[in-house]
Amino acid sequence: MKSTMDFIEMKKSGEKITMLTAYDYPSARQAEAAGIDMILVGDSLGMTVLGYASTVEVTLEDMIHHAKAARRGAPDTYIVVDMPFGTYHVSHEEAVRNAIMLYQESGANAVKIEGAHLKEFVHHLIDAGIPVVGHLGLTPQAVGLTGFRMQASSREEADELIETLQNFEALGVVMAVLEAIPSDLAEKAARETQMPLIGIGAGVGTDGQVLVYHDVLKYGTGRPPRFVKQYGDFDEAGSKAIGEYITEVKDQKFPDENTTYKKKVYEDENNG
Ligand code: KIV
Ligand code: NA
Repeated sequence: MKSTMDFIEMKKSGEKITMLTAYDYPSARQAEAAGIDMILVGDSLGMTVLGYASTVEVTLEDMIHHAKAARRGAPDTYIVVDMPFGTYHVSHEEAVRNAIMLYQESGANAVKIEGAHLKEFVHHLIDAGIPVVGHLGLTPQAVGLTGFRMQASSREEADELIETLQNFEALGVVMAVLEAIPSDLAEKAARETQMPLIGIGAGVGTDGQVLVYHDVLKYGTGRPPRFVKQYGDFDEAGSKAIGEYITEVKDQKFPDENTTYKKKVYEDENNG
């Protein structure tokens, strides 16, 4: 399994870090077999596998449940798990308690937390021995305030984002995800930090890329955002396979000889 030191080395050497979300045993297994560097059990699971309208509905229990399944599917891959909405804002004490529970029960290697607010309590998490990943730019848990659009497009906001990242780094945050920000900002941020920065909708200048499993495979998602590239078509492959199954059952082509156990019990009676 790769470690945070390996990711820092990759950043230094210019080898891009690949990250993909996975939320269950088969997706994690598939990602590990393909050679992904890191898995994110993202709270995007609310939409991709639970059918919620947003990540706001996702609970700590949901995250633990799915992260455990992903860990079973990818025992040798570095896994980051999201702290869901509402689990780290009420008080620092509650944030630490929830992070401990998530880290301990999920089997993940690090927990990810959205927003600049993280810098106020990250030292408590690090004191507890929990590796922490930051997430800045578009932070979907705050979509009620920001909408789904590019963030940090003014000079002031951009400078503030870089300053926050430098704070994170100084405080011991192990890496950060940058979502939906201008590519020149992402590039500058990656240059001005030693901590690996993983982008989504942040251009080619970050130290790595993350995408959502269901977006990459075109699997049960609606119209994807601009920054998504679909590399497969599970929707088409899946409905074709299911359609053929239905047809073959109706036509009594399935099961056939190959998929049926031999007649054993009443063979004599039938023949006689
Ligand atoms: O939940 C998620 O999938 C994420 C990524 C999009 C970074 O946070
Ligand atoms: Na997320």
